[in-house]
Amino acid sequence: MKKLVVFASGSGSNFQSIIDAIQSGQLNARIVGLMSNKEDAYCLKRASANNIPAAVLKLSDYATELEYEQKLLAQLHEWETDVIILAGYLRKIPSSIIDAFPDRILNIHPSLLPKFGGKGFYGIKVHKAVLDAQEKESGCTIHIVSKEYDDGPILGQSRVPVLNNDTPEQLAERVLIQEHKLYPVIIQQHLESLNN
Ligand code: GRF
Repeated sequence: MKKLVVFASGSGSNFQSIIDAIQSGQLNARIVGLMSNKEDAYCLKRASANNIPAAVLKLSDYATELEYEQKLLAQLHEWETDVIILAGYLRKIPSSIIDAFPDRILNIHPSLLPKFGGKGFYGIKVHKAVLDAQEKESGCTIHIVSKEYDDGPILGQSRVPVLNNDTPEQLAERVLIQEHKLYPVIIQQHLESLNN
């Protein structure tokens, strides 16, 4: 069974949807760790409630970027990580980690990439930008992580309508419902496509 490590910085509702999908048997995998960069993030509470080991690693705690990356990599190896799942992780993944896990890091982004992706497009800013551009639809995208923000091969998307008078928060909520459905499905498909 493949071992997943989820990276999250915030509430972790996607993390929760992956936990739930494993518990219901929809997703055949095990979460061996939660990696965060925020010691007060709610996702850490979800980890402890589900007996999932967690680590908080922050670049600012290390003298050099190299030390930080080595510590991150060491923790991933200690957890015997097969696949990394980014679920609202608000830090760029160091390229040494991307090299160490080729095709084995997935990300979810709350827009229909390539629209509204890249540096600066995160959280509620994405949904504000969609509304400002008067888009008729939005959605979420799951992709393999490459060395550029929100780039890399797309594995799946879900669409939602943008409604008249939507606030960014209302749109975010509509997209998030789809995120929770789509991520476990795509993770399962991707695990099946990996041959070892
Ligand atoms: C989601 O909208 C996800 O697409 C984005 O960050 C948000 C994380 O939400 N990358 P949560 O922490 O999973 O609730």
